[in-house]
Amino acid sequence: MIVQFELNGKLVKTDVKPGKTLLEFLRDQQIHSVKHGCDHGECGACAVLLENRSVNACLILIHSVDGKKIETLENFSTHEHLHPLQESFLQAGAAQCGYCTPGMLLSLEALDREGHPVDEAELRDALNGNLCRCTGYVKPIEAAQKVFQNSKKTEALS
Ligand code: FES
Ligand code: FES
Repeated sequence: MIVQFELNGKLVKTDVKPGKTLLEFLRDQQIHSVKHGCDHGECGACAVLLENRSVNACLILIHSVDGKKIETLENFSTHEHLHPLQESFLQAGAAQCGYCTPGMLLSLEALDREGHPVDEAELRDALNGNLCRCTGYVKPIEAAQKVFQNSKKTEALS
């Protein structure tokens, strides 16, 4: 089955087997920021942006993204230029093993794209689906607060 979609700004046209997931496809394409975690929609390690919303790629069948826009962290980040959230995570020491970090960054990016001021509860809520066994979420929330404050999209953070 032929599927065509936009991946990180480039048009992709591919012949896929029914039942293949978006996660399997992206890993085949060497998109390493998208992690293979639980495979059941529970950890958020495979998060991608689908039409600006954070979704778990392990739950998306590849044929269903026909005509859609997919973004991964590779769309925002190179070795020379980090995403502002990524830079803030780095400065705050918010990534430890780093397995969950791309998913967290995309969940926060999706929240940012909603374009409205957010409070700390919304930042926490945005990371609700991203399982992190290392950080306790303290540093990631601090790092996110700094970026959202700088973009003046954060309301009265405590
Ligand atoms: S691998 Fe997709 S949510 Fe865990
Ligand atoms: S930094 Fe290790 S799982 Fe989050």
